[in-house]
Amino acid sequence: MSFLFLLQILVLCLIFSAPSTTDAWGKEGHFMVCKIAEKYFSEKTKEAVQDLLPEIANGDLASVCSWPDEVRFRYRWSSPLHYINTPGVCNYLYSRDCHNPKGQQGMCVVGAINNYTNQLYNYGDSKYTYNLTESLMFLSHFVGDVHQPLHVGFEADEGGNTIIVHWYRRKTNLHHVWDVSMIETAMKDFYDNDLNTMIDAIKLNITEDWSDELNKWENCQNKRATCANDYASESIKLSCSYAYKDVEQDSTLQDDYFYSRYPVVEKQIAKAGVRLAIILNHIFDAGTSYKMSSLFLQKE
Ligand SMILES: *[C@@H]1O[C@H](CO)[C@@H](O)[C@H](O)[C@H]1NC(C)=O
Ligand SMILES: *[C@@H]1O[C@H](CO)[C@@H](O)[C@H](O)[C@H]1NC(C)=O
Ligand SMILES: *[C@@H]1O[C@H](CO)[C@@H](O)[C@H](O)[C@H]1NC(C)=O
Ligand SMILES: [Zn+2]
Repeated sequence: MSFLFLLQILVLCLIFSAPSTTDAWGKEGHFMVCKIAEKYFSEKTKEAVQDLLPEIANGDLASVCSWPDEVRFRYRWSSPLHYINTPGVCNYLYSRDCHNPKGQQGMCVVGAINNYTNQLYNYGDSKYTYNLTESLMFLSHFVGDVHQPLHVGFEADEGGNTIIVHWYRRKTNLHHVWDVSMIETAMKDFYDNDLNTMIDAIKLNITEDWSDELNKWENCQNKRATCANDYASESIKLSCSYAYKDVEQDSTLQDDYFYSRYPVVEKQIAKAGVRLAIILNHIFDAGTSYKMSSLFLQKE
């Protein structure tokens, strides 16, 4: 091989490995959340989801859980629905924080979860005009996003997007570390670079180490539409106590940061998956909502 050819390959590798600027758990994060959720769907929920999935999904919800990231520039109105900014404080208030940059109330990730949940309750009504295939993909994605702590972050740094850091030796930003880098490093260090191995480890924890927390994950203080307000409150707290903690412009983040934070990432992915299943079972199969704990405790 000529030197020039090698150089070309190197340049291509650099281009494709450059940190992306999407605001979301990366593809892996969303895939895991939806894969975990699928496990806890009741029969009726499975049927409804199959019925709504677009053909490209090939019957697997997880494969389209990143779709809203792909359309956020085509559907520009949807871009603010992926996150919430607070005015630099470690708490979240719907009335203060849930709006888009134009100030329209409800245009944030919590408003979107409530919106698409309400739309899906019309499943089966043939006169209903919203595209429920899109509603399902939006809902599944946003329940993931609201669990990525920095999707509920500070306005001034755009949820960590403007905080430039080194993840080990690679330059990136704090938001991207939480969307993608920690998941990739965990996969490489603990799971043989295999996403399914990581998903299985998280699933196993749901039925074992975390089983006594499931009730807390399921319930919330204010259940008017969904528990999404509570999810956002949890996330801003985690942002303050883990994501932003001890990080400044130009920090180098490595083992210390990784080992103390990746358990938070794994648990948030688990919570998001469990909660997505709860929401969809409520919508498509009101009957099973009372039997959730029995669904969870089924062993592999
Ligand atoms: C609710 O969903 C509709 C249809 O996708 C969309 O036009 C609207 O902006 C959404 N509003 C919120 C708050 O998500
Ligand atoms: C619903 O949305 C999906 C995804 O955007 C699209 O492929 C499909 O054609 C839409 N269905 C209708 C009836 O518009
Ligand atoms: C499982 O739970 C334990 C205890 O909370 C935690 O230390 C471990 O990192 C978890 N493993 C996974 C894969 O989430
Ligand atoms: Zn997103």
